[in-house]
This record gives sequence, structure tokens and C-alpha cells, in this order.
Amino acid sequence: MNTKPKIYIPRPNFPQVIERLQSHFEVIHNQADEVVLHEHYVAKAAQSDGMLTTGSDLINEALLKACGSLKICANMAVGFNNFDLEGMTRAGVLATNTPDVLTQTTADFGFALLMACARRMVESEHFLRDQQWKQWRFDLLAGHDVHGSTLGIIGMGRIGQAVAKRASKGFDMKVIYHNRTQLPAATESALEATWVELADLLAQSDHVMLVLPYSAQSHHMIGARELAMMKPGAHLINIARGGLIDEDALVDALQSGHLGGFALDVFEGEPKINPRLLTLKRVVLTPHIASSTIQTRLKMSNLAADNLIEFFAHRKAITPLNPQVLEP
Ligand code: DGY
Repeated sequence: MNTKPKIYIPRPNFPQVIERLQSHFEVIHNQADEVVLHEHYVAKAAQSDGMLTTGSDLINEALLKACGSLKICANMAVGFNNFDLEGMTRAGVLATNTPDVLTQTTADFGFALLMACARRMVESEHFLRDQQWKQWRFDLLAGHDVHGSTLGIIGMGRIGQAVAKRASKGFDMKVIYHNRTQLPAATESALEATWVELADLLAQSDHVMLVLPYSAQSHHMIGARELAMMKPGAHLINIARGGLIDEDALVDALQSGHLGGFALDVFEGEPKINPRLLTLKRVVLTPHIASSTIQTRLKMSNLAADNLIEFFAHRKAITPLNPQVLEP
């Protein structure tokens, strides 16, 4: 008897994608949206040949040890810091992610956070709803201009470049960036973006946006020291991963009056939120939704599904992270 490979999907997903997967695989899913206890997650993963994971599903050494039949984890995310990639490669488990399909949507949201933060939109709405608006004032909830100001982008991959394009072309901003590798001159000139040292970026930017991958090396790359280097009144926007910022130092920098505000879509230890963050006014906090439009999340889900289908049908993948696993 020819048995279908088993795929485990620990979190709810698009019904049409699950249906698609069911025509190829035996699918264990969690459409009931139950928060899965770790031991259940490991037990279900251990019965599986493949998984469709999200950025919150850990694939670490312990899980890999417990899951001898696992051959592929298709992440429905471009980031993959939830994967122990080296461990997966050693264990012969293929890792895939979902680049490209979310670039523009995520850049849109980064820009929305920048605008909301610089123009104090969330704080203004609370002010109005709390019926504090008594009369027009010359400086009522006055923010900082976005157009014509300087944006510093840390991490200049696909999403960073899409943000840079919005900033320079749409808002006439001066764009500076810091990245391990400098972009080719033609790309820099098309984006009107200039590479600078991190210290210069922090000192010169009116708004700093984090768009770089999270790893042990980039853990808390923005701490008290870096925040102190930022321009007084500047804004910090994070659409990458929460662990890039020391959140307590960030709160201190806002409460001391040094920072003008910040906007975070990602948090260290999410979905738990550092309670100090929740007490602040001049901030915008959103629950990791930068890529969340129906169109884009469906593309991400389908790309993860395509990777699973391609792997089990042809031992290939569309967006592999450790393609060496596929070598004979
Ligand atoms: C990503 O794709 O890495 C996003 O953060 C997931 O929502």
C-alpha cells in the first residue's frame, strides 16, 4: 500500500491551502486555533514527514532528535530564526522560507508605522476617544515631518530596498543605510540610498528602521549605547524581529525624553509583551502583522505548500535555505 507522507501544520491556515495539501498528503492540522502545548507539538511533529511552520514554531536540536522521520520544514515566513538551520542540515532536514512574496506588503507596513509614529497617530486617536480634545491648539500633538527628513535603514535586503524606494521616490527623504554588504552602485543610485557606518546612521537619522535578520550576532544590536547615539527626538521602527532591541533600554530612552517615539511590530518573547511598553504613549505597537494582508499571507501559505509538494514529488524545493540537503 502506498501511504501518503504526513504533514503537520501546528497553527491555523487558509482552508484552501490545507485542502490542496490534503490532495497530496495526510495532513494533521489545528484549525481550531488551540494553543498547542509544547509536548503535543513535539509528539505531532514526531509522527510527521514534513511540517508547515510559522516563525513562532521552533525547530531546534531537541525537536530534531525527537523527530527522526522529519524531512522538511516549510516556514511560512521569510525570517527563519525559529530554525536551527545548521542542526537541520546535519539532520538532513530541508528548510524553506517565503521570500519575495511579502516584500512590498511588509515595506508598506514599515512605512505605515513610520508615518503613524512620526505623526503621533495612535496617540492622537486615544486623545480624541478619551474626549480630551477641547480646542484647536498651535502645537496640538505636533509630530515630526516625514517628507524631506532622513531615514536610516539597518538591513538592506529586499524589504529594506522596498522601504528605501518609498522613502526617496514618494517622500523625498534622504535615505542612508547600513548593511554588511554595500549594494552595487547602480542599485544605490536607483534607490538614491547611501551606505554609511552604523554610528553615522544613528547620529544622522530622524527615523531609524530595522529590517535585518535576527541571529545570535544581531541580538540586542540596539541597546542603551546605540540609543544614546541616536539624534534627540528621533524615531525607531522595528519590522524585523524583537530580539534586535533591548526593550528596557528602549523604554528608558523614551522616558528620558531622548527618543521622540518608536513603533514596534515585533517583540522579544512575543506574544508576551514587556509590560513597560504598554504604559507608554508615544509609541505604536502592533502584533507582528507587517506581512498580514489576505493576498500576501495566501501567497506565503501557497509558497510553503509548493515547497512541500515539490519536495515530496521531485526532491526539489522552490526556496530552499539549506539546498545542500537535496544533494545526492
Ligand atoms: C516573516 O516573514 O519573517 C514575517 O515576520 C512573518 O510574519
